[in-house]
Amino acid sequence: MENINWSDLTFGYMKTDYNVRSYYRNGKWGDPEVTDSEQITMHMASTCLHYGQEAFEGLKAFKGKDGKIRIFRMRENALRMQASCRGIMMAELPVELFEKVVLEAVKRNERFVPPYESGASLYIRPLLIGTAPQVGVKPGNEYLFVVFVTPVGPYFKTGFKPTPYVILRGFDRAAPHGTGTIKVGGNYAASLVAGEIAHEKGYSAVLYLDAKEKKYIDECGPANFFGIKNNTYITPASTSILPSITNKSLMVLAEEIGLKVERRPIPVEELATLEEAGACGTAAVISPVSRIDDLDENKSYIFSKDGAPGPVSEKLYNKLRAIQYGDEADKYGWTTVL
Ligand code: PLP
Ligand code: COI
Repeated sequence: MENINWSDLTFGYMKTDYNVRSYYRNGKWGDPEVTDSEQITMHMASTCLHYGQEAFEGLKAFKGKDGKIRIFRMRENALRMQASCRGIMMAELPVELFEKVVLEAVKRNERFVPPYESGASLYIRPLLIGTAPQVGVKPGNEYLFVVFVTPVGPYFKTGFKPTPYVILRGFDRAAPHGTGTIKVGGNYAASLVAGEIAHEKGYSAVLYLDAKEKKYIDECGPANFFGIKNNTYITPASTSILPSITNKSLMVLAEEIGLKVERRPIPVEELATLEEAGACGTAAVISPVSRIDDLDENKSYIFSKDGAPGPVSEKLYNKLRAIQYGDEADKYGWTTVL
């Protein structure tokens, strides 16, 4: 603990002091339990292991200059986890219980919230899994909700620097009207092969196209996509992408700084007309895109030649971070102060 180098943190797991759990049994959720064990014991026939009854969330806590800890848009994550529960027939977790367990997990691990100056944050990982034994394909009747935390730095090694992305037309992450709009583990399993190919070729992540027509932009591996042109913030509307809370926040901030906002299908060719492009998400924050290579079509779209983020992306990034760290007034009520 004494020798954590806060400014050098990457996006990875570090053991903290406690995690907090609630069990769903006999039709109801139990009171939160605090434990220092990193292990879960479960039945080998648990529905999470066989039929993918598993959903997770990702949110962050930030330490401000004033020493206060702020959690960003926790309620939105609670609501999205409920949507995931409905999507794969798991017992729906009450919003209040989600919030209570998250707050307890952060409080119990306060000493792991990185100091303001480091620019790092505490990543909060809520997980909900089906633990009832079942061999037939049907939903179980027992669940475990657990929240652990871990201090993190930037998701992409370079932080707020433009990096390249790749379109790999031979891979899909999620089908239209499938599970792409909820945060279930299966979507991430489906993205591993393409993700590895992208990394081997030197790209930060895959930029997925819509699976049906391969005509429109979907999202960027573990983040949503946005583009900037003609003073407009443009982001895909799609039935196979995760509704990103960061993206939702950026749309509000974009309007605040005088941009128009468009949420609509974005044809791949439109990439050629964008002045800036970025990936956005809790882990990614804003990760500016330097270039997108459409390998199968032998095309490249270039957004940054000088290695610097675009001016609009930079403004949005600074504004979002200022609210998260408490440097700017929280006029939308997005943060929960511990
Ligand atoms: N898209 C995918 C597939 C993700 O995993 C994430 C991360 O949660 C996002 C988008 C960004 O969502 P959020 O801004 O809510 O973190
Ligand atoms: C997040 O941004 O919170 C994510 O969940 C992305 C990734 C680490 C899965």
